[in-house]
Amino acid sequence: MNVKNFINGCWTELGDLQTMPVTNPANGEVLALAPLSTKREVDEAVRSAKAAQKAWALVPAPKRADYLYEIGFKLKEKKEYLARLLTQEMGKVIDEARGEVQEGIDMAFYMAGEGRRLFGETTPSELSNKFAMSVRAPIGVAGLITPWNFPIAIATWKAFPALVAGNTVVWKPSNETPLMAYELGKICEEVGLPKGVVNIVFGTGPTVGTSMVEHPDIRVISFTGSNATGSKVAELGGKLLKKVSLEMGGKNAVIVMDDGDIDLAVDGILWSAFGTAGQRCTACSRVIVHKDVKEALQEKLLAAMDGLVIGDGLNPETKIGPVINRAALEKINHYVQIGKQEGATLLTGGRMLTEPPYDQGFYYEPTIFTNVSPDMILAQEEIFGPVVSIIEVGSLDEAIQVNNNVKFGLSSSIFSQDINKIFKAQTLLDTGIVYVNAGTTGAEIHLPFGGTKGTGNGHRDSGQAALDVYTEWKSIYVDFSGKLQRAQIDTQ
Ligand code: SIN
Repeated sequence: MNVKNFINGCWTELGDLQTMPVTNPANGEVLALAPLSTKREVDEAVRSAKAAQKAWALVPAPKRADYLYEIGFKLKEKKEYLARLLTQEMGKVIDEARGEVQEGIDMAFYMAGEGRRLFGETTPSELSNKFAMSVRAPIGVAGLITPWNFPIAIATWKAFPALVAGNTVVWKPSNETPLMAYELGKICEEVGLPKGVVNIVFGTGPTVGTSMVEHPDIRVISFTGSNATGSKVAELGGKLLKKVSLEMGGKNAVIVMDDGDIDLAVDGILWSAFGTAGQRCTACSRVIVHKDVKEALQEKLLAAMDGLVIGDGLNPETKIGPVINRAALEKINHYVQIGKQEGATLLTGGRMLTEPPYDQGFYYEPTIFTNVSPDMILAQEEIFGPVVSIIEVGSLDEAIQVNNNVKFGLSSSIFSQDINKIFKAQTLLDTGIVYVNAGTTGAEIHLPFGGTKGTGNGHRDSGQAALDVYTEWKSIYVDFSGKLQRAQIDTQ
C-alpha cells in the first residue's frame, strides 16, 4: 500500500518523492510506504488551505459541525478496523487502541456540539445606546504537528476544534504512524468535507515540520512531541509572531501516602507506568512513596507484575506491547544503564527482549528501580518507556516538593484517604493535571490537556481551552445613539 498526501481534496501521486517504510513494531512487518514530502508539498497544501479558508469560515458553525458529526459516525462505523490498524502501526494493545479511536469519536461529537455554542460574551457598554460584545474569530490556516503515540486521538484534539472554529488545516502526522492519518483523510473525503479544508502532508519534522512553521500563511501551530523539537518550533514560530501551542514531555509521579489504599495504588501505578509500554506523555515515571508503606507497596507491585504478558498487541492476552522503534528501545536501555550507574536498585526488569518470539520487534521488560533519589537523572529526565523509579519520602510536604522538583509539569497523582492531604496536594502539585486515587493517565476529552513548566507554553489541547488556541477574540461595539459618542478613554 502507498500512502499519499491529501492536498486540496485529492490524493496526490508520489511523483519523484522518496518514500519510507511503515513497519509494525511488534514484528517488523512492512505495512506500507509513506512519502517523504518536501517544502513543495507543504506550499501546495498551504495554498489549498488558504484558498479554502474564507469560504469555510463563512459556513455557519452549526453546518461546519455537521461535518464533524459525520466524521464521528464514520469513525464509529470503522472503529474495530481502525483499532486493529492502529495496533499494527503503533504497537499499543488492542483494547487501548479501541479506547484511542473512541477518544477520536468523542472529540468529534464534543467539538460538533461547539458548532451551536462557540460562546462569546455580551457586556454592558459604558455609554448609553451602545452595545458591546466579543466573539471568537478563526485565525486562518492552522498547522498541526502530531506524534506517533496517539496517532488518531491527538490529531482529533487539534483538528476538530480548529475546524469547528472556521480554520482550515495543514496536518503533518508523525512519519512513524501515517496510516491513521491516511484513514482519517479518507473519512474527510467520504463525508464530503470541502476541498482544501483538511490537507495532510507526510514526511519528517526537519523538512515538512520546519516548512510549516516557517510558512507565512500558517498563523497558528499546534505541536505535540519532544521538548527539544518543541523549543525549536517555539523559537522559529515566535520570531515570526505566530501563535504556537506546545504539549511536550512529562516526568509524572504517583504519590502514595501512608493512609493510601495500597492495592488501588498498585493498580494505578501498573496501568499508568506500563500501559502503552510507558509511551504516554502522562505515563507514571516516578512513584513517590511514604517510607512506612514502601516495602508493602514494592511487594505488591512485584506480585501483580507476575501476570503481565508482553507481546504483540493484537493478542488479547497481551498487556504490554512493543515500543515504537529501535531508537526508542536503545534510549530506554540507555536510561536503565544510567540508573544502575547512579546507584539505584533494580527491583525487576531492565532488559531488552531480543530472543524469539521477541526478536523481530522492539520489546522492553517492564522495569522498576527503587532507592532512587530525586535528583538522579533516572528521576529527572523523560524516558518514554516502561521504566518507573520509586522514591521514598517521609511526609506529604516532602512528596509534593519531590513531585515539583523536575522541569516538567504534566500529570501527577495522589493516593490517600485523607481529604485534607488530598486538597493540600491538588493545590500545591505543580502540574496541569492532578488525579486523586487514580494513576497519572486517562485524560477525558472535555477537560483541558497540557501542563506547566517544560511541558508546555500555557496553551491546552482538548476541552473548551482548545478553542482558545484556534480563535482570536474580536470585540465589537455597536453604537445606536446616532451621534459620535466618546468613550471614557477619550474624554473625562
Ligand atoms: C497521553 O498521555 O499522551 C494521553 C492522555 C492520557 O492518557 O492521559
